[in-house]
Amino acid sequence: MNILITGGAGYIGSHTVVELLENGHSVVVYDNYSNSSNESIKRVEKIVNTSILLEEGDIRNRDRLREVFTAHKIEAVIHFAGLKAVGESVEQPLRYYDNNVGGSVALLEVMEEFGCKKFVFSSSATVYGDPHTVPITEDFPLSATNPYGQSKLFVEEILRDLSTSDDAWQIILLRYFNPVGAHKSGTIGEDPNGIPNNLMPFISQTAVGKREYLSVFGDDYDTKDGSGVRDYIHVVDLANAHFKAIEKINSVEKVATINLGTGNGYSVIEMVKAFEEASGKKVPYKTAPRRAGDIAECYADPKYAKEFLGWEATRGIKEMCEDAWRWQSQNPQGY
Ligand code: NAD
Ligand code: UFG
Repeated sequence: MNILITGGAGYIGSHTVVELLENGHSVVVYDNYSNSSNESIKRVEKIVNTSILLEEGDIRNRDRLREVFTAHKIEAVIHFAGLKAVGESVEQPLRYYDNNVGGSVALLEVMEEFGCKKFVFSSSATVYGDPHTVPITEDFPLSATNPYGQSKLFVEEILRDLSTSDDAWQIILLRYFNPVGAHKSGTIGEDPNGIPNNLMPFISQTAVGKREYLSVFGDDYDTKDGSGVRDYIHVVDLANAHFKAIEKINSVEKVATINLGTGNGYSVIEMVKAFEEASGKKVPYKTAPRRAGDIAECYADPKYAKEFLGWEATRGIKEMCEDAWRWQSQNPQGY
C-alpha cells in the first residue's frame, strides 16, 4: 500500500517507516519538523538502503495536503503528527487543541475530498485517565486530566462520529502505553528537546553524564516498591504493530480500538536497575515528591491486539534498555 505518514520524522514515525519499507509498503513522509528534523529520515534511508519521499508541511495546511494527495496516490494514512508534552499542554491548551484536534480535522477533510478513508491514529493510554484497576482492557471508561489527553480523546470521538456518518471509513485507534528503546543500529531514537519529561530519556541522559541524577517522583504509591509502574514497550515492537494494522485495515468495520502494550508493569526503580545492567553505568537517583497528575499503575491487557492484529510485543526490558543505551551513547547530543 502507498501510505502517508504524518509526523514520520518523529520518534515513533521514523521507526514505523523502517518497518513498513522493510515489509514491502511504500510511504510518503509528511512533517513540519516542529519536533524533529529531516536527519532522522536521512538515517532511515541508510537503514533501508532506499530513498524516501519527503514532503514538508503542516497538517493544518489543507492546501499543502491537497498538493500532496494530488502528487501521490495515497491509499491510507498513519497519523503520528501531534504535540505530546503533557505539562506544556496545560500551559498552552489552545496550541495543543489547534495542532492536535484542528490538525486532525484538516487532515480528515482532505482525505475525504480525495476518497482516502483508511486511517490509523496514534492514541494513548492516557485516555484511560486514572484506571480503576489493572490490566486495562479497551472497554475501560475514558477520561482525560490535561489538554494533551483531552486532545487524544476528542480525536478518538471525532473518528467514531465520522465512521457513524459514513461506513466507508476504516479506522484503527492504537492506544500506546510507554514507548521506549531504539532501532538496533543505534542510528535512530528518541531525541527530546531540552530537559526530558519522560523517564527513559531522563535515565539515559543521566547514564551518559548529561544529567546529574534522576528524580524518582514518589516512593509511597501502592506498588511493589512505592514508585510508579508502567507498561514500557519497545518502539520497534510498536512500529511492527502499525505494519500489522495496515495489513488488517481492509477488514476493519468502522473503528477498531487496540491497546499496544506488553501486559507487564515495571516500576521506576526496576527500570533504573535494568538500565544500569544494560549500560554498565551508574544512574544516581533521589526520591522526590509525586508529580502532579501521575497515577500509581498503568499496564495493558494486550489480548485484543493478539486476537485482532496477530501481534504481540517480543522485546523485554533488557533489550529496551540496551537499545536505548546504544542510541544514547552513540548520539549523546541527539541528531
Ligand atoms: P514526536 O514528537 O517524536 O513525533 C511527532 C512528529 O509530528 C514530529 O516529527 C513533529 O515534527 C510532527 N508534527 C507535530 N505537529 C505537526 C503538524 N502540525 N504538522 C506536521 N507535523 C507535525 O512524537 P512521537 O513520540 O513519535 O509520537 C507520535 C505520536 O504518538 C503523537 O501523536 C503522540 O501524541 C503519540 N503518542 C506518543 C507517546 C510517547 O510516549 N512517545 C505515547 C502515546 C501516544
Ligand atoms: N518518572 C520519574 N522521574 C522522571 C520522569 C518520570 O520518576 O524524571 C516516573 C513517573 O512518575 C512515572 C514513570 O516514571 O511513574 C513514567 O513516566 P513518563 O513521564 O515516562 O510516562 P507517563 O506514564 O507519565 O506518560 C507517558 C507519556 C504520555 C502518555 C502515557 C501513556 O508522557 O503522553 O505515557 O502512553 F500518554
